[in-house]
Amino acid sequence: MGKKKIMFFAYLLLSTIFISFSFAGITKESPLSIGQTVSSSNGVYELGFFSPNNSQNQYVGIWFKGIIPRVVVWVANRENPVTDSTANLAISSNGSLLLINGKHGVAWSSGEALASNGSRAELSDTGNLIVIDNFSGRTLWQSFDHLGDTMLPFSTLKYNLATGEKQVLTSWKSYTDPSLGNFVVQITPQVPTQALTMRDSRPYWRSGPWAKTRFTGVPLMDDSFTNPLSLQQDANGSGSLTYLNRNFKLPRIVITSKGSLEISRHSGTDWVLNFVAPAHSCDYYGVCGPFGLCVMSVPPQCKCFKGFIPKYIEKWKRGNWTDGCVRRTKLHCQENSTEKDANIFHPVANIKPPDFYEFASAVDAEGCYKSCLHNCSCLAFSYIHGIGCLMWNQDFMDTVQFSAGGEILSIRLARSELGKA
Ligand SMILES: *[C@@H]1O[C@H](CO)[C@@H](O)[C@H](O)[C@H]1NC(C)=O
Ligand SMILES: *[C@@H]1O[C@H](CO)[C@@H](O)[C@H](O)[C@H]1NC(C)=O
Ligand SMILES: *[C@@H]1O[C@H](CO)[C@@H](O)[C@H](O)[C@H]1NC(C)=O
Ligand SMILES: *[C@@H]1O[C@H](CO)[C@@H](O)[C@H](O)[C@H]1NC(C)=O
Ligand SMILES: *[C@@H]1O[C@H](CO)[C@@H](O)[C@H](O)[C@H]1NC(C)=O
Ligand SMILES: *[C@@H]1O[C@H](CO)[C@@H](O)[C@H](O)[C@H]1NC(C)=O
Ligand SMILES: *[C@@H]1O[C@H](CO)[C@@H](O)[C@H](O)[C@H]1NC(C)=O
Ligand SMILES: *[C@@H]1O[C@H](CO)[C@@H](O)[C@H](O)[C@H]1NC(C)=O
Repeated sequence: MGKKKIMFFAYLLLSTIFISFSFAGITKESPLSIGQTVSSSNGVYELGFFSPNNSQNQYVGIWFKGIIPRVVVWVANRENPVTDSTANLAISSNGSLLLINGKHGVAWSSGEALASNGSRAELSDTGNLIVIDNFSGRTLWQSFDHLGDTMLPFSTLKYNLATGEKQVLTSWKSYTDPSLGNFVVQITPQVPTQALTMRDSRPYWRSGPWAKTRFTGVPLMDDSFTNPLSLQQDANGSGSLTYLNRNFKLPRIVITSKGSLEISRHSGTDWVLNFVAPAHSCDYYGVCGPFGLCVMSVPPQCKCFKGFIPKYIEKWKRGNWTDGCVRRTKLHCQENSTEKDANIFHPVANIKPPDFYEFASAVDAEGCYKSCLHNCSCLAFSYIHGIGCLMWNQDFMDTVQFSAGGEILSIRLARSELGKA
């Protein structure tokens, strides 16, 4: 081998070492530069700089190590890409994590809450970037408290009405632009809670209320389904939804830039999609308007609940359902009405419970019926396995009728509606 060739191989070897050089973590003495990465000790995750569209723009992110094409699960400087080749991720003198864009200053920081005399950053085996106080061992900051568009096992969506604290998923602007997009996924403070995707702060997709092990608006999640989600809600106005590890390879939940909420995992060679929402035209929030029912037939169609008629018949016929339906016969409800003039309850099966439900503490289905019957503002009730009694006293919004599964919704009607079509 000639001298030149040896030199060439030495260069190749060195540059390979440089490119894949991997720290155990980030310390004050060893910031992370472009081209360097930090790996989790199990080798599943990797932290480093990346450019989503091969532009000058560099972002600090975490991705699945060795998976091509690269799937980024978290981005630090979503709104503020760095462009300087000397950019680096460093530990500041007060212990916080700083992304320094060369001479252009700080592009991103882990925030002001930290105060430490010495800290280091590590990438945990769960894909969580953690800033640890060197002396107390305390976690000062973690990326799991600042989710982007992805949930990994052990990460959590939450709300706390007392503190106003909230953790949501936010979509990327586009496939190659990690800045904030149009879609947000959250869990609502309703009791029981539900998952809700918003598009530009308008409801876009709704899971239906949580019933112990499943979302009632997702027929796939029947009683035999072992849900990878765990939900906690307490009386103090806080709730959290945690994604559990089901021993799948590389599981993740992501809200795409197009608003699709996806649960997927890796088969070893490919990504396998386990769940997508919205998937059906009835999945879009409120397609059939108030008191409208989206029937999952082929093709899907909007109907009015029994006893209701389209608000604007011509518009409805043209296929604009947004105004929904109105009651045909007014309810004359008196709390102690006698048998004769009493309202009746009409059961509708295979239902995704409408939005704006209220939890009522009835012991059984009979008690649920009675509490609704005796309260004239109650328009419907449903006794749901895993929840108990839900009641409605507002317009029914976003109701779907599945071809199988779902709940029974009993709606209040004037008795004279009974025989009508
Ligand atoms: C730590 O330093 C960063 C960057 O200089 C600053 O933004 C942050 O407010 C500081 N935090 C504290 C607690 O002083
Ligand atoms: C930093 O060290 C000083 C002196 O040892 C100590 O007084 C101070 O409490 C420490 N600060 C923190 C945040 O640990
Ligand atoms: C914190 O700990 C790491 C690793 O144990 C060490 O490399 C670093 O110098 C320490 N930082 C400070 C400020 O003491
Ligand atoms: C890359 O993305 C940035 C926004 O992050 C955008 O401004 C730029 O035009 C994109 N470049 C290409 C080549 O798509
Ligand atoms: C609610 O808050 C109170 C006071 O802060 C606390 O004592 C109680 O344990 C909390 N209850 C739950 C279920 O978290
Ligand atoms: C349907 O009606 C709503 C409310 O009047 C209106 O805002 C919307 O533009 C209409 N949609 C279509 C597709 O015409
Ligand atoms: C309705 O019935 C309840 C119990 O049977 C009674 O206490 C109440 O006074 C009655 N209300 C009216 C308006 O008759
Ligand atoms: C009837 O239901 C409404 C709405 O849930 C509630 O505010 C009201 O207190 C109830 N009335 C009675 C008498 O229970």
